[in-house]
Amino acid sequence: MRTQIQNYIRAGYPGIYLVSHEEQRVEAELKAVAAALKYKLYAWSATEGLVDTADGNIRQANDPMEAIVAVADLPESSIVLLRDLHLFLQDANPVLIRALKDELVRCKTKGKCLIVLGCRQVLPPELEREFVVLDFSLPGKDQLGAVLDGICGSAKLKKLAGPDRDQVLDAATGMTSMEAENAYALAVIETKRVDATVVAREKAATVKKNGLLEVVTVRESLNDIGGLDVLKDWLRKRRDAFSERAQQYGLPSPKGLLIVGIPGTGKSLTAKATASVFGRPLLKLDAGKLYGSLVGQSESNLRSVIQVAEAIAPCVLWLDEIEKGLAGSKSSGSTDGGTSSRVFGAFISWMQEKKAPVFVVATANDVTQLPPELLRKGRWDDMMFVDLPNQTEREAIWGIQIAKYGRKPERFDVPALARAADGFTGAEIEQAVIDALYMAFADGREPGMVDLSLALDTSVPLSKLMAEQIGGLRKWAVGRCRMATSTVNEARGRKIAA
Ligand SMILES: Nc1ncnc2c1ncn2[C@@H]1O[C@H](COP(=O)(O)OP(=O)(O)O)[C@@H](O)[C@H]1O
Ligand SMILES: [Mg+2]
Repeated sequence: MRTQIQNYIRAGYPGIYLVSHEEQRVEAELKAVAAALKYKLYAWSATEGLVDTADGNIRQANDPMEAIVAVADLPESSIVLLRDLHLFLQDANPVLIRALKDELVRCKTKGKCLIVLGCRQVLPPELEREFVVLDFSLPGKDQLGAVLDGICGSAKLKKLAGPDRDQVLDAATGMTSMEAENAYALAVIETKRVDATVVAREKAATVKKNGLLEVVTVRESLNDIGGLDVLKDWLRKRRDAFSERAQQYGLPSPKGLLIVGIPGTGKSLTAKATASVFGRPLLKLDAGKLYGSLVGQSESNLRSVIQVAEAIAPCVLWLDEIEKGLAGSKSSGSTDGGTSSRVFGAFISWMQEKKAPVFVVATANDVTQLPPELLRKGRWDDMMFVDLPNQTEREAIWGIQIAKYGRKPERFDVPALARAADGFTGAEIEQAVIDALYMAFADGREPGMVDLSLALDTSVPLSKLMAEQIGGLRKWAVGRCRMATSTVNEARGRKIAA
């Protein structure tokens, strides 16, 4: 980050827009940049005015217009950090924008650089070309480690080392320095040491704050999925894809997997299990919330998501039912000025080009809602189609679901149940188990075959109600997707219940 900013300044860029929540860390970083380049560093805020960071001298200039006038008086080779300016830019005051534009031209000739710092990007179109926008990256492990040592020192605890330290730092990645410091301090108060689980819990809470991302605790593994042998195999083969060994071997990092299929067939379940396979954290992205109402906000949202995901990487980024989040991008242009298709395009290009080991797993029920760019060859490592479970798969699902609710599958005629559940999805089989438990509980006994059969008989599977859509989806998937279940395994039992 430091060299990047340094290079821009040396190349004579007069305007840089830094997006970050971390004012102190940015200022410290700019101090280092200024020292390295032998520049002077000034910092402006709406309350303090323009401060010479070397001697603390203050020029009264609390109004942004006054600040720009004051900048003109500064000596050559100066960096000016403008803290609150972005808040004045959002109403697009024409005089301020003009003053800024003119000053940028002078700055270029005088070797001055204006650095606007804001937690989000607010640049009116008039200034978009005048600033280079940089995301100030979140602190790396070494910086989070320095903060950790500081906390251990002030709490009079021994410095953490070895695997304990790695665990804590792993749990802290994705947070700002200040957030990490708070989380460490809280852990010390709660547990008298810096406990990684407390830090991880706090990270989950901070990540959730912007409403876009969520750190999901995963309990599901591949053993919880009945059937889908091809899909499970695909994931198993990539188990060590993020390891150092894989990198040395020259394996490209997996990009992502799109799972398409009928509702209730275990797509979300598989997405969650993916994180267990890789043994890495699962971040769930609410794609629908990506689109903000302010100009540039959606792009800014996407960037913050990418930043957090890359900081936490290696990790799995999960987009559930993407058609809901991306629906707008298909018909956009007319509806939202093209924002959603632009944001969506940016997401796709990130997915293609990303170097950070972030595995994207997306699920979709309704492909007709998806923009065609998303489905083009090469976007994903693979697209998998999940169909209604066949007989063998239904047997596995019954077994898993019966055991999940604390009963022994051996006590039931599972093959018979599987035959009776032809046309049912995994979710519907689970519901039948729950219904049967309720019936038996009301009578004060254990559930038996009769309860399970009755539960099936009294429910109508979705495949019956949606036969036409399912037929369409299957037809669409042929030739486009890999089937999540091998046909060798068994092809029977795929008819849609009539
Ligand atoms: N193949 C399966 N094996 C085991 N359980 C399943 C399977 N498919 C669905 N289920 C059960 O149904 C629930 C809902 O499935 P889900 O993954 O949300 O379906 P989808 O995302 O495809 O709509 C799961 O949490 C699981 O309990
Ligand atoms: Mg789902």
